[in-house]
Amino acid sequence: MNRFKYASLILLAFVLLLGQPVKADEGMWLPMLIGKNYEQMKKQGFKLTPEDLYSVNKASIKDAIVSFGGFCTGEIVSKNGLIFTNHHCGYDAAASNSTPENNILDNGFYAKSFQEEKPIKGLFVRFLVRMEDVTPKVMAALVGVEEKDKAAKIAEITKKITTDATIGTSMEADVRDIYKANQFLLFIYERFNDIRLVGIPAQSIGKFGGDTDNWEWPRHTGDFSVFRVYADSENKAAPYSVNNKPYTPKKSLPISIKGIKNGDFSMVYGYPGRTDRYLTSYGVKMATEKTNPTIVKLRDIRLKAWKEEMDKSLDTRLKLSSQYANIANYWKYFIGQTEQLKRLKINEEKQKQEEDFTNWAASSPVNVNLIGAYKNAYAIYEPYAVHITYVNEGLLASPFIRNANQIGSMIKAMNARKADPAFQTQVKQNFNDLVNNYQSTYSENADKKIFAQILTSFYQDVPKSQHPKFITLISENYWKGSTEATFKNYADHLWEKSNLIDPEKMRKFLSNPSLESLENDPAYLYASNLIPQDYIRNNFGSVFSDFQLEKNRLDNLYLKALTEKNKGNLAYPDANSTMRISYGTIQNYSPKDGIIYDIKTSIDGMVAKYKPGNEEFDLPKSLLEAYSKRDFREYAEAGTLPVGFISNNDITGGNSGSPVLNGNGELIGIAFDGNWEAMSGDIAFDKQYKRTISVDIRFVLWCIDVIGGAKNLIDELDIKTNKLAVPKDKLILKKQ
Ligand code: ARG
Repeated sequence: MNRFKYASLILLAFVLLLGQPVKADEGMWLPMLIGKNYEQMKKQGFKLTPEDLYSVNKASIKDAIVSFGGFCTGEIVSKNGLIFTNHHCGYDAAASNSTPENNILDNGFYAKSFQEEKPIKGLFVRFLVRMEDVTPKVMAALVGVEEKDKAAKIAEITKKITTDATIGTSMEADVRDIYKANQFLLFIYERFNDIRLVGIPAQSIGKFGGDTDNWEWPRHTGDFSVFRVYADSENKAAPYSVNNKPYTPKKSLPISIKGIKNGDFSMVYGYPGRTDRYLTSYGVKMATEKTNPTIVKLRDIRLKAWKEEMDKSLDTRLKLSSQYANIANYWKYFIGQTEQLKRLKINEEKQKQEEDFTNWAASSPVNVNLIGAYKNAYAIYEPYAVHITYVNEGLLASPFIRNANQIGSMIKAMNARKADPAFQTQVKQNFNDLVNNYQSTYSENADKKIFAQILTSFYQDVPKSQHPKFITLISENYWKGSTEATFKNYADHLWEKSNLIDPEKMRKFLSNPSLESLENDPAYLYASNLIPQDYIRNNFGSVFSDFQLEKNRLDNLYLKALTEKNKGNLAYPDANSTMRISYGTIQNYSPKDGIIYDIKTSIDGMVAKYKPGNEEFDLPKSLLEAYSKRDFREYAEAGTLPVGFISNNDITGGNSGSPVLNGNGELIGIAFDGNWEAMSGDIAFDKQYKRTISVDIRFVLWCIDVIGGAKNLIDELDIKTNKLAVPKDKLILKKQ
């Protein structure tokens, strides 16, 4: 037996053994092992084979799925490398290419030729070439290694494995652990860096419903955008060039406009980011009581300050709207997660599971009190949980801090290499990029207000005994009668005196930087307290690192023991930004007693929500005109135009933009959200409530075709319809 086969057999055994009995729709499965689920998938209406989904020997659906920019998923839908993804995945590309004069974010944009497509700097996609189990190699390297040295050893062996796997090729590779470091997988990717924006609806369509409707069903959002992969004349990945050509993919997805109904098979194929399904009750309690409320409070501060500025001018709105949308998205997420963890009594449910586990463990060879050890670890760490959240979501959220520290190290490097002119030029270039980048989202009023308010709430919410010295010193030296006035006073001082906050002053300072004035700069002095590792060491002693080490150790043992306990059940690993398949059905649900939510929404419901000029519920004239003529073409169903639908697939952030496929592997929609009643889903999957919200592909095509007039794009697609191949009149003739 060769090594690969052997390795995947071990993995297979592991997947078979672990976990609670799973329901049909729960689970984010590894494509290379999807054969294990095949019988169940067939029963639900899947018509293809496991090899059609994942194969290393022939083109399969996996070759049409891309990791989009590392934060979303996209799917290839034409022989010319056309990609569909979500509007919110293409949002930044659209916003950063918009100006008040040429405002594609608000007005929408469809390229009518390859020449009109817009290159997006920094955007990339990755295709998965293959995955492989490398557990034996990693485990061999870990023999005899102490707990505290494990992470470094894993990094070392991972480096070797990825280098060996890609040397002499243009591929790149990652090793990722699953089942809390009980298994390790190697992923080989091909990365394309020339990605161009092809089409995006006006944001009144693409973000219809705004934050009000976000994370909720029923939904009427046209959350899609269109990009294209470009390659060199050899069809190989290459940096941007005018000479690059549309990429010819191994595989592209056919599209079905035949329609869907409750109970139909549905499958989501993509890159879910992170779930934490094995989090203990102690973790749930900390999230609901400490971490989540702190995150929400700090995001509130930022969002309010940005919004105030965005409402003042279009220019500022375009500048800040992408970061605003990102922060707002997870602001509402954490509100919903907390609410649903409580409503669904997830803490209690976990406690029961843990009790059950402890009873089992006592009478098994495992015989360790893991749950008790978790309890102890959390008890020591919990008093610091709010503080840690303040560091990540608060203190480090003022962008000038990272800049100041980076500029500090760059100036030191420049001084050390004075005799190297090429290096000096390079650093000047880096300075330039840094300032441009920073300036693109800088807002003096908002940034200053956020800085002062976050310090104020830090001072009030973090236990006094944990206050770092620099905070105490600021509060004494800048005292102005109240905490709020004090930190505002300090902010005024920094903004006035520093060369590292205002972008224009920064540009001037960096044109001829001196280490001495840097070291006297008040923003630099402040920022030097906030180098993450140093901050942690200085303010938490070893509490934070001890907790992480202990939690990792316990998680690893807990998962190993659960494998033993649940022998014989099919199980899936937590999401970790690697490729997964989730299958289930189009499925309605009851959000509460007496109400049943339908599986789909239509343009009639969209127009019913329309509020002219409203920030969240406006609609473009072109849509309203086509609507008033009921010009729905072949995309219509029962006299209206479908907009959204739900299915019981198991997805999370990162899956955004993923294809929703029917039993024949045809694209029926693009997944973009989860629903309110199951916002606790990343921690505990709830079969009754959890749904995936998708935009119906017929609405997407209608927008491109009818609103966008981009027949050129429609012509690239492989569209399957119910229409008979033979025109009706001929058919009648034949019958006669
Ligand atoms: N909640 C969606 C997701 O995380 C993003 C929706 C973006 N729309 C918005 N209004 N922020 O995938």
